[in-house]
Amino acid sequence: MSPGPTRVLVLSGPNLGRLGSREPDVYGSTDHDGLVRLVHATAEQLGLDVDVRQSDDEADLVHWLHEAVDTGRHVVVNPAAFTHYSYALRDAAALVTGAGLLLVEVHISNPHGREAFRRHSVVSPVASGVVAGFGLDSYTLALQAVARRAG
Ligand code: DQA
Repeated sequence: MSPGPTRVLVLSGPNLGRLGSREPDVYGSTDHDGLVRLVHATAEQLGLDVDVRQSDDEADLVHWLHEAVDTGRHVVVNPAAFTHYSYALRDAAALVTGAGLLLVEVHISNPHGREAFRRHSVVSPVASGVVAGFGLDSYTLALQAVARRAG
């Protein structure tokens, strides 16, 4: 029996529902619906089964990471500001990689070229890898990495 397509949860954290109008000089002019379309188009090309979600709520993101573990899904996650201080998210991310699943941390901007508080990620040490600074292409590059490694 064929195992079916590789399944990936694509998650975005707080304020990323405001893409398009939020600091377009930093995050671009595409809105979150445009990101969803881009991720679905990329997933179709790569033969991935994706579920794309966004929340401003830390608990939603933690629960979705638990769901990834329970359902055996890889994760592409832009933790947004939670990147820099949420130990709860970090611990949930560690459950994903600890279960042998991939978790790719993505950022639209390059946090290392911005304010000092953005230069530290509490998630990176438990992530499989990080893609940052390529606009929305950070998500498509992360999906390519998942497709190559998980395929
Ligand atoms: C971000 C970078 C974070 O520092 C910021 O808080 C965000 C978005 C990015 O995608 O570049 O909300 O994760």
